[in-house]
Amino acid sequence: MQNRANILVVDDEADFAYGLTRMLAAQYPGYDCKYVTTIDQAMETLRREEVPLVLTDLRMPEKDGWDILEQGRIIQPETSLVVITAYGSIESAVQALKYGAYDFLTKPVDEEHLFNVVDKVLERYHLLTENRRLRRVVSKEGERSLIGESPAMKNLRHSLERVAATDYTVLIQGESGTGKELVARLIHNLSERRQSEMVTVNCPAIPGDLLESELFGHVRGAFTGADRNHQGLFERADKGTLLLDEIGDISAPVQTKLLRVLQEQEIRPVGSNKSLRVDVRMLATTNQDLETKISRGQFREDLFYRLNVLKVNVPPLRERKEDIPLLVNAFLEQVCREMGLPDLRIDPSALSYLSARDWQGNVRELLNFVRRMAVFCPGEEIELGLVHFLDSSGEQPQAESGTIVPYKEAKARVVDEFTRTYVQELLRQTRGNISEAARLSGLERVSLQKIMRRLDIRADQWRGANPI
Ligand SMILES: Nc1ncnc2c1ncn2[C@@H]1O[C@H](COP(=O)(O)OP(=O)(O)OP(=O)(O)O)[C@@H](O)[C@H]1O
Ligand SMILES: [Mg+2]
Repeated sequence: MQNRANILVVDDEADFAYGLTRMLAAQYPGYDCKYVTTIDQAMETLRREEVPLVLTDLRMPEKDGWDILEQGRIIQPETSLVVITAYGSIESAVQALKYGAYDFLTKPVDEEHLFNVVDKVLERYHLLTENRRLRRVVSKEGERSLIGESPAMKNLRHSLERVAATDYTVLIQGESGTGKELVARLIHNLSERRQSEMVTVNCPAIPGDLLESELFGHVRGAFTGADRNHQGLFERADKGTLLLDEIGDISAPVQTKLLRVLQEQEIRPVGSNKSLRVDVRMLATTNQDLETKISRGQFREDLFYRLNVLKVNVPPLRERKEDIPLLVNAFLEQVCREMGLPDLRIDPSALSYLSARDWQGNVRELLNFVRRMAVFCPGEEIELGLVHFLDSSGEQPQAESGTIVPYKEAKARVVDEFTRTYVQELLRQTRGNISEAARLSGLERVSLQKIMRRLDIRADQWRGANPI
């Protein structure tokens, strides 16, 4: 397929076809307008290239235009066919419409009528391709898709399409693990900015004193250790999207700095005396109720209103339990692919058990559970017994003696087990303080958080009576 779509004229009278093609080319410079003089050549083009519109004569020497109506539609169902008939043969034109032609024109072709018809066809084509694109982005399988057919998910998808068409700041609210980041990704992918980057700022992970330089960049010599210019995340997201992930967790001074940028729409790298204008669409997520935080004086109201231009609520899993079977099956496929395991099935009673259970940690917890089921499934089918076991113990079952699993898998289990114990001990000692845990272990904070998410380890249970 080539890049530009085609408008194809099919007529055995080469002069006529040439004239019509020139008229079209002048009017529709965005398309490749070409002509062929036989039906076979037309079929050939339909097989090779994207052709939203075919204008075809009906009566031709060998095969006639009816063939295009029948076969052409099989090759490219979205092609619109417009039939050109000699003046007076209205009957065949009407018959062509019955056979599914989009419209007809009579010779000699009236320019205004022609352009009217072509405009309509092209508009229809754009709608069709746009719908196809939306469908692909919103509901196809793969890590970037949003799985779920419950009314709540359908509503969510609907709002995403609408929100993505605008350039406003969006606040994405939802409990932990509901899919907020995925939703942000979809908004970006559905928007006009999809060709540019979406840059994610993990707000709680950036220490307050570095936030400014991370977001806005700095120039060489701006502070000790700034030995070269550093591009900020805002600049990197220029023409694209900047996601402020978990905005509810930022400290008061950082809130103030952020508010200033949102108001001024420009950034000034730390240590520079020049401001830069950036064209960035902002998205923010939070799992906290910001309005409650405002009433307690923990979140700036003016910042909230800057962020909350449009709001998207991601519903918790308990409000869309009917999506659980779909999610489990999709995750099972994904997880087996990731781990190089053969495809696994799940027993229907195990599936109903999972669908009835509460998932406090929402989709993320479900995904982690599916990972564990896949790792510990001894055969090809996940049975209710295994699910009960994993669910009640929260522990991993001992492999039956004598069961040999592939080396890679066996090693992964041991490494995961070691990592889990290690991280739990680390958090116990630091009383759930992730920064401190990262420092002690020599891991990047972000890497530590990634491990915790993967193994479904939560810091709050070590935090005691005084949650941070
Ligand atoms: N509807 C869904 N369809 C498919 N995958 C989903 C869906 N919702 C969430 N996920 C997956 O679940 C995991 C958690 O989602 P995500 O990180 O977007 O949630 P979150 O709300 O940002 O969570 P947290 O509060 O923990 O940051 C991701 O792996 C994501 O791809
Ligand atoms: Mg998140």
